[in-house]
Amino acid sequence: MNLSALITALGGRRALQQLLDVGPSAVSNYMTRGHLPNRVKPIIYAALTAKGYQVRPHDLEILAGPTKLLMSDMITNSGPRIVLIISGGIAAYRALETARQLQKRGARITGVMTESAKQFITPLSLAALTGEKCYDNLFSLTDEAEMGHIQIARSADLVLVVPTTANFMARANAGIADDLATTILLATSAKVAMAPAMNPAMWAHPATKNNFTSLAQRGVHMIGPDIGNTACGEEGEGRMCEPSYIADVAMKLVEALPTNQPSRNVTSNQGQVGALVGKRVIITSGPTIEPIDKVRFIANHSSGKQGHAIAAALAGRGANVTLVSGPVTETPPGHVNLVPVTTAAEMLSACTTAIAGKRTDIAICAAAVSDWRVTSAASKKIKKSNDPSTKMLLELSQNPDILANLSTSENRPKLVIGFAAETENLFENAKAKRHRKGCDWMIANQVGGDDDPVFGSTTNKALMITERNVETWPKMQKTELAEKLADRIEAEFAK
Ligand code: CTP
Repeated sequence: MNLSALITALGGRRALQQLLDVGPSAVSNYMTRGHLPNRVKPIIYAALTAKGYQVRPHDLEILAGPTKLLMSDMITNSGPRIVLIISGGIAAYRALETARQLQKRGARITGVMTESAKQFITPLSLAALTGEKCYDNLFSLTDEAEMGHIQIARSADLVLVVPTTANFMARANAGIADDLATTILLATSAKVAMAPAMNPAMWAHPATKNNFTSLAQRGVHMIGPDIGNTACGEEGEGRMCEPSYIADVAMKLVEALPTNQPSRNVTSNQGQVGALVGKRVIITSGPTIEPIDKVRFIANHSSGKQGHAIAAALAGRGANVTLVSGPVTETPPGHVNLVPVTTAAEMLSACTTAIAGKRTDIAICAAAVSDWRVTSAASKKIKKSNDPSTKMLLELSQNPDILANLSTSENRPKLVIGFAAETENLFENAKAKRHRKGCDWMIANQVGGDDDPVFGSTTNKALMITERNVETWPKMQKTELAEKLADRIEAEFAK
């Protein structure tokens, strides 16, 4: 951490003192030790973010900024009005980044903070960022005169709670209205979305789960939580989703509102953003490439289009997606964890690592894995012989079957889906393959037809074969097929 750079960015030592409410000797101490106490880091992160710096949260390394974007550029007079409620968890400092991301997407923000949120960030930092007053007091006479809680509640196209603590969820679920934030929730008829963030043990508690489910059933749109390192330093489910993702979902929710009645009577429905939040998914995509020697290899024509489209569709619905991909030119979708691999062995190892010791809900094997590899690939280029009659023989060994491995793994995902590429007897072969590989669903494609080569094409037609059912899907864009599959997955998990 470059403490001097941080202090300069904050506006000097006096600014730091005021921000942390400490005397000059405390700042001298920080300077002598060369680092800051952990408890003040979120405050400094919030202040720097509010000033437009891009900062790495854990070590406060300034990555860029301050952004050249003027505040007046960020503040629009015509975008949707989002009432951003910040409740008091350690992830509160990330709410400022969420506000910035929303503004970048054209939203106007009214900030509201709970008392405990103010332990983490100041109303001033949010007000500086949004260019509007940040409201925090239910009983403030001036606020009530200027803009009462009912008015705030009615002004909203969307009420977004970031982060939503376990306590806030409990109060919201019980209908308690003992502060400005919870009163707005009761008074609003706008769509409400919440981005939960908490310690994994708190998230796993049945009381929290009940509150979450009950709010979701009442139409509150839940964004997350995600899986990963939580702000409190533990790993697991409970991490707040990325601010850019929350902003994307919020804007999509606003876009989905009826234009004549911007904030009324919108119920959550399936096929919408966020429906697969909290689901962990692993997807294989693209070809694998098996070396023959230093410069040659065995490969196939897979473009990765279908696997990547599925990754995009599921990530778009909020799933936590790990995309294990062979070499492709397709751009990986946003919001997925990309694990690039080359060979089948590497693909298997990446998949095994991804599911080890963690609950994985869905595995989708869309990769065209090379069935064979050269038993002993040469480490140098194999030279040709001067004798034209020389035969070159390659000994091939069978590669591991990744789909079969995932289907029989002790950490087997709840739903395992394979793709079957067949040149003949599509249904019979794919049905037998589903059974042999132990997967739940098989998406079967006829390959090699002149009218629809599948590999490299942007379209696909398929049979979806489950244990009891077969559906025929007509020719459609691979992106459409991905959404159709995502619909089926969503329905499966809604059961
Ligand atoms: N698959 C896999 N690992 C392999 C081979 C295939 O995970 N080594 C997966 C593919 O990703 C796909 C499914 O198995 O989901 C079927 O692949 P396909 O190429 O149709 O079948 P194969 O197992 O290769 O059988 P065959 O070549 O005999 O048709």
